[in-house]
Amino acid sequence: MPQPPAIPRLKVLTGIPKTIRNPIGAFNDYAEDYGENYLLSVGGTRRTHMTTDPDVVQYVLQKNHRNYEKSEIQTDQVARYFGQGLLTNSGKSWLTQRRLIQPGFHRKRLERLTEAMQEVIDLQCAALREKAAAGTKINLHHFTRDAVFRIIVKAIFTDGFTEEDTERLNATIDKVQGYIIYPVRIPFLRGPLRWLGQEKKHVGLANDVRQDIQRRIDQRRAEGPKDDLLQMLLDTRYEDTGEPMTDEQLIDEVIILFAAGHETSANSLAWTIWLLLRHPDKLALVRKEIEAAEAAGPIDFEGVRRLPYLTQVIDESLRMYPPAWITDRVALNDDDTGAFNIQKGTVMGLFIHGLHHNPAHWDAPYEFRPERMTPAAKKARHPSCYVPFGGGPRLCIGNHFAMLEMLLFLSSVLKNFDFSLSPGADKVGYKPLITLHMDREVLVGVGERG
Ligand code: HEM
Repeated sequence: MPQPPAIPRLKVLTGIPKTIRNPIGAFNDYAEDYGENYLLSVGGTRRTHMTTDPDVVQYVLQKNHRNYEKSEIQTDQVARYFGQGLLTNSGKSWLTQRRLIQPGFHRKRLERLTEAMQEVIDLQCAALREKAAAGTKINLHHFTRDAVFRIIVKAIFTDGFTEEDTERLNATIDKVQGYIIYPVRIPFLRGPLRWLGQEKKHVGLANDVRQDIQRRIDQRRAEGPKDDLLQMLLDTRYEDTGEPMTDEQLIDEVIILFAAGHETSANSLAWTIWLLLRHPDKLALVRKEIEAAEAAGPIDFEGVRRLPYLTQVIDESLRMYPPAWITDRVALNDDDTGAFNIQKGTVMGLFIHGLHHNPAHWDAPYEFRPERMTPAAKKARHPSCYVPFGGGPRLCIGNHFAMLEMLLFLSSVLKNFDFSLSPGADKVGYKPLITLHMDREVLVGVGERG
């Protein structure tokens, strides 16, 4: 009688501070030593099944997603500051909200947001022109972060945000986001941070943002409708009750869009520009494509389709430097993926960076090769070995928004400006916070192109 296939035994690793100091390096080393799947149990934390295996990623995010919820790191620890918006919500409440908000990101809506995005980009280019004239260097990450933060603010609130308001909001959200990672990555710091009043301080900052948004909602109600994401959230009604969202829920959703929608794109844009500056041959191809695309008409919502090579460059940058470098799920019940038994309560550590560099699916994974991202090449690969925006029902709701803003931004900026990396800026490493940052400030010289 044929024997059922043996279930691979997974190695159990314990007590590893290396994962705190350098998580990406550590998890990649473990994948090399132990394979695509292994069990990890650090100190007293829950047992974690780490994976860089596209079959397991697909199984957890898609095939049997009902058995897997986000862990309390995402739902409780982030929600403590940013509330229960789409990213931090779970279960039935998440599904109801997702159905309600999804139409806000449909093609037609995005098309209407293109003009607002371009307005912000033009202002950023004007500021860059002044820097170029003065010979001032720019901090690459600050530059991309400011641009995408202004874009998301404009997409949600078409009006009412002064320069000062935007700066203040950006700085506050950054402070809270920068803080959240510490108790997540080093759980035993949570107690001391609380005693030192740090948790209270950052909850307080998040509450200031909530109050600000509440004032703006009240103002919108008084002044009448506009064509932006806030209006969509105000106008939408629950199917079963016909009721609108409560203000509390609405504020949670707005904060989550701010938080989820700027760090990710900002990091991705910074990495993409940095990669292009280190590969002048690819940059030349991008510029040639932008010129040809412009000659055929404006680079707008439809026009970005004429930028297939730039799209591949962004895709490749998202592969090498996935802003969401890891995510997780917890098994609600015992499960069998077909290759592994998963015990109820196991945390599934979906290590996206490792998946995107898995040598079984990527040749020379540490080389920048936009050519590997043609639609045909993508189709020939396992569908879950490239998941920068996640997968399954919880796929990033802002993925098309992000691609659109990145294409518009890069085409404007690369067409109009030359950049040069300051000495030493070619040796940048990872700084994995909630999203994947550069480990140092990258200063860039700017010149206007003739
Ligand atoms: C390069 C840019 C971006 C990347 C790489 C990215 C990545 C991701 C990933 C991986 C997830 C899924 C997390 C998981 O399943 O555990 C996600 C979810 C989400 N993203 Fe993005 N994101 C980007 C931009 C944006 C933008 C621009 C917005 C908003 C305008 C946004 C809003 C969200 C929201 C609300 C969720 C939660 C969706 C849900 O669970 O229903 N993201 N993102």
